Amino acid sequence: MPLSPATPEAIAKTVALLRNGGVVAFPTETVYGLGALVWDTRAVARIFELKARPEFDPLIVHVADRPMLERVAIKLPDSAQLLIERFWPGPLTLVLERQARVPELVTAGLATIAVRMPSHPVARAILRALGEPIAAPSANPFGYLSPTRAEHVAETLGQRVDLILDGGRAIHGLESTIVAFEPVPALLRPGAIPAESIEAVIGSLERRQPSQAVTAPGQLPVHYAPRTPLRIVEPAGVALEERRTAGALALRDAFDGYAATRRLSERGDLREAAAAFFDALHDLDGLGLERIDAQPLPERGLGLAMMDRLKRAAAR
Ligand code: TXA
Ligand code: MG
Repeated sequence: MPLSPATPEAIAKTVALLRNGGVVAFPTETVYGLGALVWDTRAVARIFELKARPEFDPLIVHVADRPMLERVAIKLPDSAQLLIERFWPGPLTLVLERQARVPELVTAGLATIAVRMPSHPVARAILRALGEPIAAPSANPFGYLSPTRAEHVAETLGQRVDLILDGGRAIHGLESTIVAFEPVPALLRPGAIPAESIEAVIGSLERRQPSQAVTAPGQLPVHYAPRTPLRIVEPAGVALEERRTAGALALRDAFDGYAATRRLSERGDLREAAAAFFDALHDLDGLGLERIDAQPLPERGLGLAMMDRLKRAAAR
């Protein structure tokens, strides 16, 4: 198993692998990424292959600093500048006009590129040492739950990746928030930074509905789904008889009679809940249950991003 703790030696090995066409899983503050050197189309193609990801689905490009950003994106709108000052490095992805030299495969032929500057020390160390941007989607098979631990990557992509760097559990545990600017600032994917925090900086965001033209596959109606059927339901209202063969995903309360329950935050704190969210779903999905009953979460702050993931999982 190519799983290694993120020691300085392993980081150096990662950089060498990336320079030589490798595909490496590494920790970020949101979820684990599956990375390749952005200019290396063969390595980027391997990412699609490994994830069984359709090629029309563009990747997020990770950068260490402003000069690196300017090598892949041009003409930053003022509102993008403001968001960069406020939220980078961190879990915010911006859809910007791309530099012509970025391979078409990375952006799926779009005129735009999705970029973010991660804050995770391991991701930053890799980017700095490599000195080049890294294209990296989440390190999960297409459509499956995002990985918040190195083990999740090992279990699903395992031997087929050149190296899996273990940096512990992802701090946010939810993917980055994606914002586009054309024709108006819009929320493409709710994520680790609440939409309200972004709106406090640049004003209101257009909320694009999943039913509208798909510009981010994270917007596909079915996505981020566990293998176990999932429904969104208030567990308190489920008959005891029906609980025996199911698992419950709850915010703070425990419910009797379920085969398993995962509580996201005993304090009912949405940030703590988000950090535990995919982890809990991975756990429940591994138990071979008939069904997962997910308690509806308040649709504000990070609750919006979690409900978005649950609705897609339930759409299966
Ligand atoms: O937190 C994250 O963003 C993680 C970590 C690894 O950085 N990455 C991640 O990547 O979630 P991925 O590929 O699983 O999701 C990227 C999303 C997709 O829904 C993709 O369609 C969208 O970003 N995207 C990429 N380029 C785009 C573009 N030019 N315009 C609109 N959406 C884009
Ligand atoms: Mg993903």
